[in-house]
This record gives sequence, structure tokens and C-alpha cells, in this order.
Amino acid sequence: MDVHEARQSSTWQNAVVYQIYPWTFAEDSGREPQLGHGSIRGIEERLSYLESLGVNAIWLSPFYPSPMVDGGYDIADFKNVHPALGTLEDFDSLVKAAHAKHIRLMVDFIPNHSSDKHEWFEKSRRQEDGYDDWYIWHPGSVDEHGEHQPPNNWASVFSIPNRKARERGEMHWLHEQEWTPPISAWKWDDVRQEFYMHSFAVEQPDLNWSNPYVREAMKDAMRFWLDRGVDGFRVDAINHIGKNMELPDEEVNTAYNEEWYENPYDQLQKFQSCNYPRTLHEYIWEMCQVLKDEVYEHRDLRMILEAYMGESDLRDIDAIAPEVASTFNFGGLLASWDAGSRKIQMDYYYERLLRDAVANQVNGNHDKPRLASRLGDNGARAAAVLNLFLPGMRFIYNGEELGLVDAEIPSWRLQDPNGLRDPERTPIPWDDTLPNAGFSNADPKDLWLPANQADAHKAVMRQKQHDTSSLSLYRAAIRLTHELPSAQNGKYVPLHTDNDQVMAYGREDEETGDQLIVLVNFSRDKQGSVRVSDSHFVIGEQVLSSISVEQSSHRVDVRAGVALEPDEVSVIKKL
Ligand code: GLC
Repeated sequence: MDVHEARQSSTWQNAVVYQIYPWTFAEDSGREPQLGHGSIRGIEERLSYLESLGVNAIWLSPFYPSPMVDGGYDIADFKNVHPALGTLEDFDSLVKAAHAKHIRLMVDFIPNHSSDKHEWFEKSRRQEDGYDDWYIWHPGSVDEHGEHQPPNNWASVFSIPNRKARERGEMHWLHEQEWTPPISAWKWDDVRQEFYMHSFAVEQPDLNWSNPYVREAMKDAMRFWLDRGVDGFRVDAINHIGKNMELPDEEVNTAYNEEWYENPYDQLQKFQSCNYPRTLHEYIWEMCQVLKDEVYEHRDLRMILEAYMGESDLRDIDAIAPEVASTFNFGGLLASWDAGSRKIQMDYYYERLLRDAVANQVNGNHDKPRLASRLGDNGARAAAVLNLFLPGMRFIYNGEELGLVDAEIPSWRLQDPNGLRDPERTPIPWDDTLPNAGFSNADPKDLWLPANQADAHKAVMRQKQHDTSSLSLYRAAIRLTHELPSAQNGKYVPLHTDNDQVMAYGREDEETGDQLIVLVNFSRDKQGSVRVSDSHFVIGEQVLSSISVEQSSHRVDVRAGVALEPDEVSVIKKL
């Protein structure tokens, strides 16, 4: 089967997408000596693992040349591979090998900013011909003390370091203020003698999307990867490319207080510095046109856009070109883990889904504490099954399938400029009989991030041998979702139970009549007899339990009542 046929045999509609954080996924066995961080070849070596897990696509987090100030999200060249991770040839080989296994590849694309080491920024700060306004520059003003002051109050998303400094008592002058101020989004540049804007770290200057040359250059970078065979993009922080270029101040968020909000950035509203619909929608539309270009007509390309915005703003973006792009659905990730909240969130999400749109479900990523750290082992298993049986693209963050937990990272080994997100980015344990659990045989002190000792016993080699392990559960669940017509094509059916700790939903394939019900016990208590009052079918059989993994052979009467163990999800198929 050639690559083209492979793509047609599975659509994004029901793809399981596995996110790889390349720095800590796997180092290739051929590298001598081992360096202590992952590689593109290391990923290729593990494709059989992903194939046996049943994934349909990989989302590769940044692998581009980068000074690594923000885990690779600070890119110094949009059209190359970080030399520490491999070469463009390695990348081409990965695409080919993945496609041969019918696994698609989606790469992280970061439109809002580059690294300050990108040659565009170097040229722009020197005002070289044509590059003058590739970034967002402003002279600001000079105050009565002769100090340069930024043009407005816009703040950086990465304002947590101020709060941490204050907590450590390091910013004495801040104690006089009620709340820790955010870090300004403006940084004075001595070379150009102007401020530049950075929505994230100082080393991540924002590109000026109002400049058509910048837009062309970014679309050119997209085509570069599409022409190398990638099947789409996970688009980073998309809402930040939409700004009001008249640069008005943001209004203050009057709901802010430091007890409830972790990040001083949230002291301001976000209507001008990002989320500005007029420009945002226009630029997203332009990016979508790249995928819709007739040269790619025969390809099934897709973008998934990262934006933390309100529901209705997300729906507006989803309406731009639903056939090629949709926003991440972080609703489930952000909702609290209880039956009522998840039901409201899910029913609403599927009800509002646009025609032609591809739904998606997310349980974690490289920015959030790991699922098992948030919900405990059994809660994580429940959340996995709950998401996997829902319609749409289902995202798995590497290591989630193993039930990995957050690590404690000594302060001197932190990589994240916020000092926050390293715990969920530690190396994947492959085989705990090998050094660093098989991730790399480099000296442990040379690992990019230390291996989490608490996770060594969750190594892939061990979990493969146990029928009830987290890995076996993911495999069984994914296999079922690929096999059952209701899980492949069935519509989402909201259902009700007579127990407020237990949520239920159904899937129904109108063509084959295949139906299933998923019952989720959110409590840590056993629930003796849960009735699904509005089920369309009465007699079924349990095809999967999040606890025992196995299929039980007995018949279940869903109107009479189903017993659920603590944290158990039960998947029942109509007989
Ligand atoms: C996104 C990424 C995050 C990164 C930020 C800036 O939110 O997921 O890891 O730090 O954008 O690029």
C-alpha cells in the first residue's frame, strides 16, 4: 500500500494522535557516545512501539534549531532540524518510515515568535534592508528620570518568575505592592534603541504578522515541511498572532487576586495584545489556504490550533475552515474531575461542533502536570478510557499511556524558564534493566532532564508483560475503538444516569446499528447499581473495564443497573 492509500485508509476524524517531546523520548541506539537527549532516529526506532499501541499519527513537538530557552519553542531556523536531534535526512527517513506504517506526522509550528537568535531578528534589530518591521518595534517614551518606558501595559505570559521571586523574598520593592506585577511584554533593545514585543520569554520576540513579508515567510516554512511529506501542523499559541497594532492598553481584570490566580499575567484582560479577532481570523484563514492549495489537493492535511480562549471565541475560529483546521478542545482537561462538570462540558462541546469539523479530546500535554499526578493511577486510567471512546482526534501525551507521574527536578537542572513544566517532561522509561531505564546510556548527570526514578518500574518492557497494566489498557481500548463501528463512526449521544457520581454517554452508528455506552464512576467508592435511564438499548456486554482491562462474558442489563468499582469506566456494547 503506498503512502497515498495509507492516508485514505484512516481519516483524522477518528485518529489517535501521540505527542512526542523529542528531547526526552528516546535516544537512538546507533549514537556513540550517547549524549543524554532524544533524537529523530530514536523516534524512528520506536515506531513499532507506536504501531502496536495503535496510534494513527504523531505530533512532534519542536525539533528545530533553537537556543533552547523555552524547550525548543524559541526557533532559530524554521526550516531545519536541531543538530543535537539529527539532520533533515533523519527527518525525511522518519516521515517515510512512519508513513510505511500508516502513521501520519504532524509537526509543531510556531507562528507567533522566533528566537532572538534567528537571523531575521538580528537583521531587524540592525534595521537591515527589508527587515525593519519583521518584529514589533516601538520607541516608547522617556519619563522624568530619563528612563525608557514601554508603549503600553501589555504583559508577558511568562510572568510567573516575578511571582516566584517575590515568594522567595527576592524582590523587596515588590512587597510594597498588593499584587506581584506581571513582566512587561516590552524589552528595550540597546542595538536598535527601541522596545520590541515578546508575548513569552524575552528571548522569544513576536513576529509582526501585519507585515505581509512575514506572513509569506511563515507560509513558506509551512510549505517546506508539507513538501517533505508532513501531514499537518499543531499550531502553537495561535491566538497571539492576532493583535491590535494600534497598541492600546489592556484593561485590568477586576476579578484578579493572587490567591486564585497563579500567574500575574492574568491581572490584565486579553483583548488587544492577543485574541484580537479581526487580524487573528484573517491570518488563520491565510494559513488554512496553504493546506487547501491545489498542489496538496490529494493530501488529507490538517491543523490543530492551540488557543486558550473562551468557548464562543474558539467556535468562531473553528468556523474559518473546519475542513482543515480546528482548535484544541481543552475543556475536559480544564474541567474539574467530577461527573457533573465533565457531562456539561462534553454535551456542550459535541452539541456546538460544526458540520465538517473534527472534534478532539485532550488529557494532557507538555505544559500540564501529568494525568496520573492529577487524578491518581485509577483516575488516569478512567480519564484515558473516557476520552478514547469519544468521537474525534484523541491526543495522548508521551508517557501518559504508561501512567507516568511528575518528577521532582532539582532547581539546578530546570530547563523551563518558568520553572514549572519540567516535571512532566522527563525521559520515557523503556526498559528498567538498562541505564536510565533504556532512554539513553549517557551519564545520568548529562541527561537533558533527569529520569524519574519513581517511574522506572513503569517501563514499557515491564508493562507489556502485564495484561492489566496501563499500557495494556491503552492498547486494548485503542484496538476496540478502531474495531467497533460505533466507536469509529458513531455519533455522540448524551445519556443520563440515576447516580450523580456516574456519568454516561453513548455512541451510535446509524448505518450498522452498532451501539455502545460508556459509564464513568468519578468517585473513589463502589457504586452498586447504576441505571442509564435513557439508554437506547437494554442488554449489552462489557467489552472493556478500565480496571481489569478484560472483556467480561456476562450480559449486562443497563436499565436494571450496572455495578462499578471505584474510579471504574465500563464500556458496554449492545448485544
Ligand atoms: C505554547 C507551548 C508552550 C510554549 C508557548 C510559547 O503554549 O505549548 O510550551 O512555552 O506556547 O511558545
